[in-house]
Amino acid sequence: MTSSATWPCAALPLADLSARTTIRVGGRAEWLLEPATPEELREAWLAALEFGVTPRVLGGGANIAIDDGVLPGVVIGTDRLRRVFRPLAAGDEAGDEHSALAPPSAMVLPDPAEDPRLVAWCGATLPSLLRAARDLGYSGLEGLVGVPGNVGGGVAMNAGGRWGEMWDVVESVRVLEPDGELRDLPRDECAPTYRNGGLGGRVVVGVVLKFRPEPRLTVAARMKDYLREKNKVQPVTERSAGCTFKNPDPELAGGRSAGELLDDVGAKALARGDAIVSPLHANFIINRGNATAADVFTLMEDMRDLVAQKTGIALEFEVKRWRPV
Ligand code: EPU
Repeated sequence: MTSSATWPCAALPLADLSARTTIRVGGRAEWLLEPATPEELREAWLAALEFGVTPRVLGGGANIAIDDGVLPGVVIGTDRLRRVFRPLAAGDEAGDEHSALAPPSAMVLPDPAEDPRLVAWCGATLPSLLRAARDLGYSGLEGLVGVPGNVGGGVAMNAGGRWGEMWDVVESVRVLEPDGELRDLPRDECAPTYRNGGLGGRVVVGVVLKFRPEPRLTVAARMKDYLREKNKVQPVTERSAGCTFKNPDPELAGGRSAGELLDDVGAKALARGDAIVSPLHANFIINRGNATAADVFTLMEDMRDLVAQKTGIALEFEVKRWRPV
């Protein structure tokens, strides 16, 4: 392990990563870099390449479980890149929407209903983005209410559910290519699918989102309804990494979701240490307090094996796993 290095932004050696994930398991990163602007993110990426490693990027830690122990190399945390703001009108001379260091002054902004767009940097939390959209009377992301995590992960993994998904409102995305170049990709050059933004190994830096204007109260009421529905069937406030498995092909599974399949085969009885299957929704693993990453990963395999044995269906993991390769 290297004990010293010069980084272009805030940097922590041996940073605890478990506290930065929603399921609260996992070990430490050899280095955690925390850029505060898109340019710093790019510099941090390049510095890591120079250091000899390809960095991993950690957003809101909502759909990920990290192994115990020390993860060698560099993790870039995006928490400080949390801006959400209205873009300038098209054609405005200060037209680089993503790189605005401060939200533009209200003087130069068009009527919100005439240009119902928002720019969000990758570290903005999904709840803060949803609040901003609601307060402006922008509809399109209400289905993501109750989903934790950051914009970057939400776009990269196309977060969503029954009432809609992230890419429903993406107009363009700014990415960092593996070689450190920044690129803007318009929506029609991307091919998002179910739970996959289709961006490959690129890092999401920021996104321009286009909404539908609607009365603020209508947007707020819809969000409330969805959250109420979600709270009934999902352990929204527990320590979990969200849905463990993707829903299988409806033809293969007779239209049953991963949660239903797991429930039907009795997965709610499974547990490993403090990691248990949620009694509310069988596709969620809950950390009751002191679960280790090993508990969580073993439980995931138990769940997958049980479904495979009883139904022949091979469930695919939705939760990402970081191992110290
Ligand atoms: N169900 C059971 N038993 C269970 C869990 C669910 O019978 O233990 C039944 C429910 O009663 C319902 C059906 O299964 O009839 C589907 O459940 P739910 O409405 O929770 O939807 P889901 O398909 O399990 C998907 C997304 C969720 C998203 C919800 C709501 C996937 C893998 N999951 O869940 O996303 O919140 O729709 O929009 O696509 C996530 O991605 O992490 C996630 C939680």
